[in-house]
Amino acid sequence: MPDIGYLNGHFSSLAEIAISPDDRGFLFGDGIYEVIRAYHGVPAFWEEHYSRLVHSATEIQISFHLGPQDFYHLLLTGLQQSGYSDGKIYIQLTRGVAPREHGFPLNTKPTVFISFREMRVLPIETIKEGVKVITVSDIRWDRCDIKSLNLLPNVLAKQQAQEAKVFESIFVRDGLVIEGATSNIFIVKEGQLRTPERNHFVLSGVTQQQVINLAQEHGIEVKFDRITLKDLREAEEVFLAGTTIEVLPVVDVDGTAIRNGKPGPVTCALQQHFTELVSQL
Ligand SMILES: Cc1ncc(COP(=O)(O)O)c(C=O)c1O
Repeated sequence: MPDIGYLNGHFSSLAEIAISPDDRGFLFGDGIYEVIRAYHGVPAFWEEHYSRLVHSATEIQISFHLGPQDFYHLLLTGLQQSGYSDGKIYIQLTRGVAPREHGFPLNTKPTVFISFREMRVLPIETIKEGVKVITVSDIRWDRCDIKSLNLLPNVLAKQQAQEAKVFESIFVRDGLVIEGATSNIFIVKEGQLRTPERNHFVLSGVTQQQVINLAQEHGIEVKFDRITLKDLREAEEVFLAGTTIEVLPVVDVDGTAIRNGKPGPVTCALQQHFTELVSQL
């Protein structure tokens, strides 16, 4: 089955898509994106992803005119053309194509690009046994609530993780745990589930919100909190949440084992609830 691409109204095989060298996404990172997972042909949590796309676009003053239903229809069409029922959908919206000047160009239409690829899930042992993480200094800007294309600090942090032979880097700003380079983070402390408080320094995760909903439905108390590095290292449980990784146990932070290096009961229960939730989409 081919990977499919969509660019400004047209579907084709992904390999045939050509983006202008004057696209502001390419020149300036002047755009935003979303990653959505499709389970058995259904794009998951579309309303939530769409509303974050609108938030990101509004905050950087890109206006686009695809409503949630029309956009959803595009996603279904692309998925069907690709033939992938478990798909990874990437949406990128940029300020469009114009000669390189920093200020906004006049009369330029945004570029809408979407790719449809097969979802490659993590090995089952990784999902069951958990991963190691390191902490790194958060050198990003202070609007991380916008899912911007400017991912250089995230790229560098993920590379640092790879070189340290761990799965993820966790950003720490002013002594507080913020999120992973590509994920949100939860800890269990005193039996209570905690995740960093929401503000401009952190992306409000779609998966994070689903996990919070699931926890509350199952009687697990959840708190947005200021989580220190000490809280993280001494946590009873730690896990990551994200579209492509779902709920992923963390068993080691900076070389210190969490819970003797085994995923904990709250994490495993939420992992199970999440699997059930997406199987019913
Ligand atoms: C920096 C960052 N935080 C959090 C997340 C998780 O967000 P979501 O669950 O919406 O995929 C991502 C996902 O890519 C991310 O890049």
